[in-house]
Amino acid sequence: MAKSELFGKDLICSQDWRRPELDEILELAKKMKEKRFSPEYTSLLKDRTFFMFFYNPSVRTRQSFECAATELGGHAQFLEPKTMRLKTAKSAGETTEDAAKVMSRYACGLGIRILEDKISAYGQGDALLREYAKYASIPVVSMAHDKFHPCQGLADIMGIEEHLGEDLKGKKILITWAHGALARSLCSVQEAALLASRYGMDVTIAHPEGYDLDAEVMDVVGKNCAENGAKFEITNDVKEGYRGAHVVYSRNWMSPNAYHGGEFHKQEEIEKALRYTDWICDAEKMKLSENALFTHPMPIDRGHEVTDEVASGPRSIIYDVAENRLHVQKAIMALTMSEKLNK
Ligand code: CP
Repeated sequence: MAKSELFGKDLICSQDWRRPELDEILELAKKMKEKRFSPEYTSLLKDRTFFMFFYNPSVRTRQSFECAATELGGHAQFLEPKTMRLKTAKSAGETTEDAAKVMSRYACGLGIRILEDKISAYGQGDALLREYAKYASIPVVSMAHDKFHPCQGLADIMGIEEHLGEDLKGKKILITWAHGALARSLCSVQEAALLASRYGMDVTIAHPEGYDLDAEVMDVVGKNCAENGAKFEITNDVKEGYRGAHVVYSRNWMSPNAYHGGEFHKQEEIEKALRYTDWICDAEKMKLSENALFTHPMPIDRGHEVTDEVASGPRSIIYDVAENRLHVQKAIMALTMSEKLNK
């Protein structure tokens, strides 16, 4: 394998990377999926440790990063803020600068997850990741934060390409808000919109009034679509976006009002969202689409975000996408962190 220009690079949002850099990840992820335990890959991170710093819980991200490190011959260490003495707004402790510089002396890379109730205003998670990236001399990778989830977005695109082919121009993705009892961050849907638009898809975002996504991110999605000659629309109609869709991505997200008074108002968000009972992806709405694939980053709030019939139906690609997290992350770790590959 050839030396990569990605060696040492942080991955906080896919939009920070050029399209050929994203292609390089997807290309290697596909090869790694095909030849999962090939000796070509199994010692790329031999004797190396990847730190996984989780402020919030996870199933897929923790497990897939840990498996990725193992399959590359290395080790992933699970870290939580409660086991460290970090400085916060409310308590004295170690600064981000010191923590990042010390971690860089031990590990080959640092993944961070921070979102939902672990921040008190939208944007704080993104700012923290960028602060770690500023001081760390090892790559910092988002494992999902309040704004972006690049590993998920790359796994989504890989799954969509596996089912629709690598030329996604002229294919339409509907990213639709759904009611739910989890008050989720915007990270997965924003990343999905950024990557679908980078890869030439027509993008429709649907949500009830009052659930706007980040306006700056939506501007970028619009520009990406314009550069590719693709369509971009935002609708408040629960059904309209399904027409002509080749992929439907249904997911709950919190409203812009979720953070106020310096706190995350989870219960308030859930109570408000659960009133919109029409906003569920079901077989009747899917009939309006072009026999669309159904995707979701998981965990799914079944019965709210999507019916069992659709989530477990023949057009659902949720498990392929979940599996792709492993392959995409192996590719990211190999290309950005492996000295062996980048000699
Ligand atoms: N999609 C995703 O990041 O899943 P987890 O929250 O389980 O890691």
